[in-house]
Amino acid sequence: MVTKLITIDQAGSERKLRTVAAALVQGALVGMPTETVYGLAGNALLPDTVRRIFAVKGRPQDNPLIIHLYDQSQLDQVSELVPPEFYLLYREFCPGPLTMVMTRSQALPSEVSAGLDTVAIRFPAQRTARNLLRLAGVPVVAPSGNLSGSPSPTQAQHMLDDLDGKIEYILDDGPCALGVESTVLDLTASPPQILRPGVITAELILERTGLTVREAPSAVLTKASRAVPPAESQTEDSSQSGSVIFTPRSPGQKYRHYAPQAPIFIARGKDRRELITSLLSRIELEADRRLGFFGAEDTFDALQKSLSEMNGLQSADFVTYLYPGSEQVETATHELFAALRKLDAAGVELILTPAFPRQGFGIAYMDRLERAAESEEK
Ligand code: TXA
Ligand code: MG
Repeated sequence: MVTKLITIDQAGSERKLRTVAAALVQGALVGMPTETVYGLAGNALLPDTVRRIFAVKGRPQDNPLIIHLYDQSQLDQVSELVPPEFYLLYREFCPGPLTMVMTRSQALPSEVSAGLDTVAIRFPAQRTARNLLRLAGVPVVAPSGNLSGSPSPTQAQHMLDDLDGKIEYILDDGPCALGVESTVLDLTASPPQILRPGVITAELILERTGLTVREAPSAVLTKASRAVPPAESQTEDSSQSGSVIFTPRSPGQKYRHYAPQAPIFIARGKDRRELITSLLSRIELEADRRLGFFGAEDTFDALQKSLSEMNGLQSADFVTYLYPGSEQVETATHELFAALRKLDAAGVELILTPAFPRQGFGIAYMDRLERAAESEEK
């Protein structure tokens, strides 16, 4: 199969999108830009199409997909019981990077929800995603458009790298505005529970709607649950008091994600000096390995300066992925997945990168970075 790459022009390429939307309704798979990451879109009402999405990505069968809708008039096609919190959240955050989990409609193919009785729903804000959803008129499933286990795609090229020749279309509408996947919020829990952190945080939800929701479990805790054999972890009840094992309610969170080939060292420190000290102490141990650095130019300049003052450590050994100025969590979030892909392609053996405080974008950022860094501890 030849994958057609379609560049969206400034006016939105409505005519081209009509053709793609018609093909999507018939069962074609489409690389779709969204404000978070690119998705692999297909008609949610066709069981064969849904199964093909799992196959093309190499996705575990028990990891359900998110349904993407144009607006709430389509809701009754996918959910039978819409909780009151939905309308409050919809008014404040939709369209936008918020996915809500609720009771699913029996009319949906069960493959969408991987056998669960719930369904995850999101209304993307990105213009091409919205145009495609409007023209297609059907509920659209769209997991992130990467091969399972590699970083989510934030540019059309990333989707081509992973899925060229396996899907019908990729719509190129430039880099994604945010760079991390949507917040997944479980509305069937009481109080609602964030299953996957995104840029819509518990704090922001409280501030804008007055709703108290539970924070996502940390990447470290979810990791502990993966040490449990599958049969056991399925029956373990996370709400049980006294249980030390956390079982993720969101199946996707139990898989190792966003994994580059190279291990990652996350440098921590309360200011730049401490950060540089942390980086230097690790670099000293790694004199022979091909090192990569992802972060701000200012940090890298300070690191180079310190390195040049020390004997035998050459800054020239680094492969870098830098953004201008100083450390900025929004920019780091925007670039993270692209950086991991680039540094991997360059064949680095260890990636060094600074941590960010866990607030605002920093919550989702550190969740993704720590998941990507897990191999470091293996
Ligand atoms: O930003 C996003 O959400 C992107 C773009 C393309 O929209 N999509 C995305 O999809 O990240 P995916 O498939 O990579 O991640 C979906 C996450 C997984 O962690 C999955 O387990 C969870 O949502 N999920 C889906 N349905 C669920 C359900 N019924 N209950 C709990 N978690 C669910
Ligand atoms: Mg994904």
